[in-house]
Amino acid sequence: MRFPQSSNIRLASYTSVLLAARAVVSQPTGGHSDAVSLNIPKTAPGASIEHDPSFASFSFEPAFWVEFFGNSSSPNQLAFNLLNRIVDHGGQPTIRPGGITMDSMIFDPAGADPVRTTNPKGGVYRTTVGPAYYESWLNFPEGTKFVSTLNFGNNSLDIARDMAVASVKYASNDSISFFELGNEPTNYPSSRWKNSTAAYVQQWKNWTNQIDAAVNRTLGNDSAAEFGSERWWASSATTDKSGLEVRPAALIPAGINSDDQVADYSIHSYPFSTCDPARAVLATTQNILNQTELARYADEEIYPSAKAALDAGNRWIIGEFNSISCSGNPNVSDTFAQALWVIQSELIYAARNASAVYLHQGAALVFQSSQQVNSAGQDGSPGYSTYDMFYPRNSEKRGPARVLPSFSSQLFMAEAFAIQDTRIRQIETPSGVDKDYFAAYAFYVKNKLNKLAIINSKPYYANSTSDFTVTLDISKYGHSKKGTRAWLKRLTAPHVDEGSANKTTFAGQSFPQGNATGDLDVESVGRDGIIKVRGSEAVLVFFDKRDANMNAC
Ligand SMILES: *[C@@H]1O[C@H](CO)[C@@H](O)[C@H](O)[C@H]1NC(C)=O
Ligand SMILES: *[C@@H]1O[C@H](CO)[C@@H](O)[C@H](O)[C@H]1NC(C)=O
Ligand SMILES: *[C@@H]1O[C@H](CO)[C@@H](O)[C@H](O)[C@H]1NC(C)=O
Ligand SMILES: *[C@@H]1O[C@H](CO)[C@@H](O)[C@H](O)[C@H]1NC(C)=O
Ligand SMILES: *[C@@H]1O[C@H](CO)[C@@H](O)[C@H](O)[C@H]1NC(C)=O
Ligand SMILES: *[C@@H]1O[C@H](CO)[C@@H](O)[C@H](O)[C@H]1NC(C)=O
Ligand SMILES: *[C@@H]1O[C@H](CO)[C@@H](O)[C@H](O)[C@H]1NC(C)=O
Ligand SMILES: *[C@@H]1O[C@H](CO)[C@@H](O)[C@H](O)[C@H]1NC(C)=O
Ligand SMILES: *[C@@H]1O[C@H](CO)[C@@H](O)[C@H](O)[C@H]1NC(C)=O
Ligand SMILES: *[C@@H]1O[C@H](CO)[C@@H](O)[C@H](O)[C@H]1NC(C)=O
Ligand SMILES: *[C@@H]1O[C@H](CO)[C@@H](O)[C@H](O)[C@H]1NC(C)=O
Ligand SMILES: *[C@@H]1O[C@H](CO)[C@@H](O)[C@H](O)[C@H]1NC(C)=O
Repeated sequence: MRFPQSSNIRLASYTSVLLAARAVVSQPTGGHSDAVSLNIPKTAPGASIEHDPSFASFSFEPAFWVEFFGNSSSPNQLAFNLLNRIVDHGGQPTIRPGGITMDSMIFDPAGADPVRTTNPKGGVYRTTVGPAYYESWLNFPEGTKFVSTLNFGNNSLDIARDMAVASVKYASNDSISFFELGNEPTNYPSSRWKNSTAAYVQQWKNWTNQIDAAVNRTLGNDSAAEFGSERWWASSATTDKSGLEVRPAALIPAGINSDDQVADYSIHSYPFSTCDPARAVLATTQNILNQTELARYADEEIYPSAKAALDAGNRWIIGEFNSISCSGNPNVSDTFAQALWVIQSELIYAARNASAVYLHQGAALVFQSSQQVNSAGQDGSPGYSTYDMFYPRNSEKRGPARVLPSFSSQLFMAEAFAIQDTRIRQIETPSGVDKDYFAAYAFYVKNKLNKLAIINSKPYYANSTSDFTVTLDISKYGHSKKGTRAWLKRLTAPHVDEGSANKTTFAGQSFPQGNATGDLDVESVGRDGIIKVRGSEAVLVFFDKRDANMNAC
């Protein structure tokens, strides 16, 4: 188990919360004629690859870096509170400062913090960064790794190489895990490679070789050797059919990895969109929580590329994703629905052997679409994306800086993969339960059943005529010492459309400013093995009590 040991402060707060923790026995349930059994394999064969605590990672749109994180001397306390909470709960997210704006970003040795060059409506032409940008990476929790993202959009080797060299020069030693050249080449002007996969591969290999040589010179032989040759993300494509085929299934046969440079194949995933009115009408709560549809999208749009990477013996990742492209849908992605969506989606990809998923955070990009639902502020100030887990600053468009309900899903995910080498598999939905709005997963550590995650994503509103509770019987699993079979942490909110993080709780606690409010509430699953999960709730079930308590802060 990875125990948060890097700081005494964390240990101290861990201990104090342990003392405050109170175990609450689930409500007495009487008969359970309505209980359905889960059929859970007790050992790991057939489950996923081994996952680690960096599985649930993040992508942040780099043009808005200062809004999200401040600078080295004035860090944004709200952002770092949130990241520290995730680490306290067992997560170790890798940070990708990436997205569309990395493709117009330049390094200026005389520059300072990132500066956007925009039009009056907030459209970003360029982001200029100096050494201070990379130095601000030092503010992140100890051990945080980064993806050094490089501009391919301007078609200038000098720009891309200078960014790579600056990142290894100014970021803290060993903090860079990967390089990425370009974001979503599928969306570049088609004059660039004339829809030729071979032309793309030739330029990518030529540049990455020259960048590797420059980075090696900066690092020196020993550090370069430690970094190794496999340092690149490749592809970074969307699932759009734009005419340029650069998904892994096309890149691998075209020889992208003939020099053994690829660490991860990155694919971007956005199952819904508000980029245009036709797609915006589909970006509803009912649709984004539909497990059948999310799994269909993953299997049809994403998995064929993933499989090509796995078959080639490589890792694959979701290098950027969120629920609804073009910055989310107000009153959908900024509510508790997004918390459930995050858990559903991240577990779908974990079960399909993604090595990591990078949840995207940012603000409306005016040039992305002229028909999009979202926009920047009247004065061109950032219109933070409504799928973000927090609004990092006060803004004209989104109001006060604050945490959104979806943040708590990150604590759920941090605990789910807190133990190194955890494997996962989906469990069949029992008959009688609505397959469109239910998912259950088993987690294994050292070949033993360690946890369960159960998500009842059925939208539950104030006017719903039922609360859609699913009653499950897990009495065949877990220990029975003193009548307790397991321990449980519940992610809940009054209703699916709850918009306030103050009313969203994980194990009884909310995180309005990124610090826990309320007492930790770890429920005990009694001898009867009955678990109740209301519509629009998710629970994490622990079979080892120590795992349930360690992560509390
Ligand atoms: C960091 O940000 C603060 C607050 O915006 C600003 O006053 C300060 O000048 C910045 N420091 C540097 C080194 O840019
Ligand atoms: C919130 O947590 C941070 C650590 O992330 C700590 O420095 C700060 O003092 C806490 N704030 C409050 C109000 O407890
Ligand atoms: C990079 O490309 C963008 C978009 O085409 C353009 O606006 C910007 O001026 C270019 N930057 C440089 C330094 O060439
Ligand atoms: C990285 O390590 C080198 C050599 O050990 C040292 O000179 C340099 O100051 C370090 N850089 C940072 C940013 O820590
Ligand atoms: C990259 O392409 C340039 C121009 O076509 C060529 O001169 C150079 O040799 C190539 N470099 C590598 C490392 O492939
Ligand atoms: C850079 O260094 C790595 C590790 O030593 C090595 O495998 C790779 O071939 C080098 N690349 C170039 C282009 O020098
Ligand atoms: C690339 O393919 C797209 C979609 O088929 C097409 O619209 C576009 O004209 C093509 N571009 C070139 C340069 O052939
Ligand atoms: C859920 O999605 C599936 C697949 O797209 C669809 O067939 C089904 O009707 C949807 N269910 C609901 C309740 O919307
Ligand atoms: C979101 O819901 C609020 C409260 O119901 C409403 O006032 C607002 O107009 C809605 N916003 C959008 C963009 O639908
Ligand atoms: C995931 O990896 C495991 C272990 O290698 C394998 O048995 C399983 O078939 C893979 N599943 C998918 C969907 O790739
Ligand atoms: C129930 O409330 C939701 C959210 O406010 C609303 O969209 C829906 O139309 C309501 N349903 C009925 C049957 O009134
Ligand atoms: C949420 O809680 C914070 C701090 O506890 C408070 O400042 C804020 O006003 C609350 N927000 C709402 C919407 O209740």
